[in-house]
Amino acid sequence: MRNKLIAANWKMNKRAGDVQGYFHSFLNESNSKGSSVDVLFAVPFPLIERSAAAVKGSGVAIAAQNMHFAKSGAYTGEVSAEMVKDAGASHVIIGHSERRQYFAETDEVVAEKVKSAFAQGLLPVLCVGETLEQRKSGVTNSIVSKQLETVFAKLESFDKGIIAYEPVWAIGTGLNATAKEAEAVHAMIRTVVAKFFGDKAAQKIQILYGGSANASNLEQLLRKPNIDGGLVGGASLDPTTFAQMIRIAGQLSQ
Ligand code: PGA
Repeated sequence: MRNKLIAANWKMNKRAGDVQGYFHSFLNESNSKGSSVDVLFAVPFPLIERSAAAVKGSGVAIAAQNMHFAKSGAYTGEVSAEMVKDAGASHVIIGHSERRQYFAETDEVVAEKVKSAFAQGLLPVLCVGETLEQRKSGVTNSIVSKQLETVFAKLESFDKGIIAYEPVWAIGTGLNATAKEAEAVHAMIRTVVAKFFGDKAAQKIQILYGGSANASNLEQLLRKPNIDGGLVGGASLDPTTFAQMIRIAGQLSQ
């Protein structure tokens, strides 16, 4: 049985002064300690250290939202996996569609980053997903498979890595994929994992849905057999709403 995983993606939101209050409310309201729901927060780089301190002992994990693939060097403005780890993160989001769209990250760059994250002991949350035009022209499966295959071809295993299926047209738009639409892609993703790393690995991997997930649509999504959790942007910014989502996942895990 795979644990459910609910991950927050704060994107470029919140400031240092918000962190303690947020986690105080969230940890009080979510009842996540000791539950079988995994909880992860992807926060902006400058907030990693204080977020890690705020969740210490709670079982909640902290992620960065990006990293550079090089270990160190002349890359002004970039941050390495080791720096992120030193600050207290255990995970890193890689290949979010906003990185692909606004920062020209290609499948090849994403693959380098995932490989480097594993090599340096950070667990990647690899994001994949199609645009609206791609969905309309019926190429969702081939786009998502290619995104995965470019990365998997560089790896010997994806052990403890996480995949997030995030249809680009559903991110921040209020339009979410229906549970049925998402489940179809999640099932396909699991077959791609199986093809590269075997059935056992495919059964273990957590595949999250992202794109306007909220407290009203989460339960339907999580009831699908291949949807193991959510990557939540907008709805994670309010601790009460996000805590509610953790409780929903907890109820389904009992
Ligand atoms: P959203 O963002 O929940 O605001 O749609 C999800 C994401 O981009 O990770």
